[in-house]
Amino acid sequence: MNTILLGAQWGDEGKGKVVDHLSAEADLVVRFQGGNNAGHSLWVNGKKTVLHLIPSGILHPHTTCLIGEGVVLDPNVFIEEITQLQAANVFTKAHERIKVAERTHLILPFHKALDVARESGAKGTKAHIGTTGRGIGPAYETKALRRGLRVVDLFQPESQFLEKLESLMNEYRAKFNPLEYSDLQSQTMKDVLYWRKVLEPMMVDSTTFLAKHFADNKRFLFEGAQGVMLDMDHGTYPYVTSSSTTSPAAGIGAAYPKLTRSCRVLGIAKAYITRVGTGPVPTEMLGKFVPGEVEVAENIRKLGQEFGATTGRPRRIGWQDLVALKYAVDVAGIDALAIMKGDILAGMPDFKVCVEYRKPNGEKWNQFPARVEDLSEVVPVYESVPGWKVANSSDTNYRSYLEKIEKFVGVPVKFVGYGPERQQMEVR
Ligand code: IMP
Repeated sequence: MNTILLGAQWGDEGKGKVVDHLSAEADLVVRFQGGNNAGHSLWVNGKKTVLHLIPSGILHPHTTCLIGEGVVLDPNVFIEEITQLQAANVFTKAHERIKVAERTHLILPFHKALDVARESGAKGTKAHIGTTGRGIGPAYETKALRRGLRVVDLFQPESQFLEKLESLMNEYRAKFNPLEYSDLQSQTMKDVLYWRKVLEPMMVDSTTFLAKHFADNKRFLFEGAQGVMLDMDHGTYPYVTSSSTTSPAAGIGAAYPKLTRSCRVLGIAKAYITRVGTGPVPTEMLGKFVPGEVEVAENIRKLGQEFGATTGRPRRIGWQDLVALKYAVDVAGIDALAIMKGDILAGMPDFKVCVEYRKPNGEKWNQFPARVEDLSEVVPVYESVPGWKVANSSDTNYRSYLEKIEKFVGVPVKFVGYGPERQQMEVR
């Protein structure tokens, strides 16, 4: 069955492990949004591998991976990952395993510099998003501004590329001092020929490529990055990423919608909540609503290794939030869920699950609040579920936790991850 896989929370749900599992039965693994702000940690034979841009499905030798035009691609990071995978004997010739859509926008050194400068200028204010600093926002911004440079532009004469680069960077001239500005420009031009050489054999028209493989009855896995709550339109705006993370985005960011319309949509969620960066998390364990929860959070962070795979930042920890999860299921078109990392909570006497949002005046919220100001004032209503020893269906308490989730959000839990190793995955 062809699948679109999405994060159903604020990212870092353990998607890499599910992708790894599902790509055993996929011929093509496709990324359609985001960039190297993602970070998928995979454990294969006890060895940790972190990928940021290349789909995690690459670790299965029979797959071909496509980076669709909805992605923003930092060529230096891309080449670094290729080198790392070659060193690990994952493949020798990258172009035999990886294809890149020619319309994909590039993240250039100036995008990264802009991201970092903006964030450090906004520190301590409401405008501070806590981005990954990888230039993601600025790259999508220049795409919408219609000044962006794309993979296909690398194949123009250098003088034409430079002309486009000047037109792009000129929009932001005032943000940099003259020395920094010309340095960022020359850094880019220095690498153009190198990027071209690496990318040339991988470049494809994604629609033609997908249509051909669809006609050949190949099996597809669309690998989403980040999570629904970080979606630019439907997430906790403005504390979101700059791409669309819901299922319809797959038909735009790797454009053969005939294929994506018939996919099953699988949402990945943890048994608890994490978030990196700023923005409200109603069930965050801050000691506001439940005594002793700060210590619980510390413990989960330590046991679950809850530190950003891209930036190393400690992740914020929260109780399971079924109101947010139900919203994610509805807004992203999720058909089934995978619940991950319940093993981290094993041995706790009980666990809290948020089943309702209230306003400070006690009134019930009948929808997921659209304004972050409202979301940050939410008073969560919790129910307790009894703790479990083992985080799979063999444990009665864990099974009832999963059933509670299913009943509340209205879709089945099809996969259960109960440990970091490849085989620690139950299919229900
Ligand atoms: P950006 O995507 O780097 O612009 O960051 C915007 C927000 O999305 C920040 O809060 C980041 O921490 C968050 N974010 C981006 N990518 C990921 C991810 O892969 N996992 C979790 N959070 C992410």
